[in-house]
Amino acid sequence: MDLREQIDKEKLPVHVAVIMDGNGRWARQQGKSRVAGHQHGVTAVREVTEAAAETGIRFLTLFAFSTENWQRPQEEVNALMTLLVNTLESEIETLMKNNIVLRAIGNLEVLPEEVRENLLKTMGKTSANTGMNLVLALSYSARWEIAHAAGQIAHDVKEEKLDPGKINEKLFSDYLQTRDIPDPDLLIRTSGEYRISNFLLWQIAYTELYFTPKLWPDIRKEDFFQAILDYQHRERRFGRVSE
Ligand code: FPP
Repeated sequence: MDLREQIDKEKLPVHVAVIMDGNGRWARQQGKSRVAGHQHGVTAVREVTEAAAETGIRFLTLFAFSTENWQRPQEEVNALMTLLVNTLESEIETLMKNNIVLRAIGNLEVLPEEVRENLLKTMGKTSANTGMNLVLALSYSARWEIAHAAGQIAHDVKEEKLDPGKINEKLFSDYLQTRDIPDPDLLIRTSGEYRISNFLLWQIAYTELYFTPKLWPDIRKEDFFQAILDYQHRERRFGRVSE
């Protein structure tokens, strides 16, 4: 039976987060440039986005560019930024067809003007859609996000808008960029690396982790369905005991 048909629609993860890794290694294996690896990664982005939307996932967060990625060779950074602008332009139809709302988290202020403008424009065009939320993490790192939240909390305390006695987990979450996004139920990482790499550290406290050895450019819809099925066979206890 088709993997897709085995998925239990009553036990879907609400939020799936993905660390898309292995573009560089894929390119090396193919004797291509790293940039070609990222370009082929766009096919996997489209496949996973469509697979998630078709399955009925409410939130899909993709780690597209980390704060640390700025330290890659300038040429690769430029190519990734161009790819982002081009992909946003070329994929708008896919987003509309699948009723997807595009959103972004990360330090968007440091993105090149053209990328930011394109992103804001595309987010605007999709804002009235009612289907899945596709959240792009761009110039994102979890420690940056947490430190930024702490700074804003300190600011509000200083301005006497916030009573320090009221600071608890819920309030802290409300200062994060994911304030209106539920914590991920499932985190997928490709390319056989077993790391979190500064992604959504606060939010993944009870997230199920799924690792696949496949490199990101090779990922297709079936791989996404496989991850969902694996998730559905797990027992989530959130620190409690089984019933
Ligand atoms: C990790 O592979 C991947 C990235 C740093 C970039 C991800 C970007 C894309 C898939 C393309 C564009 C995305 C969107 C949302 C349009 P790596 O370079 O770290 O691979 P390696 O570990 O094998 O070197």
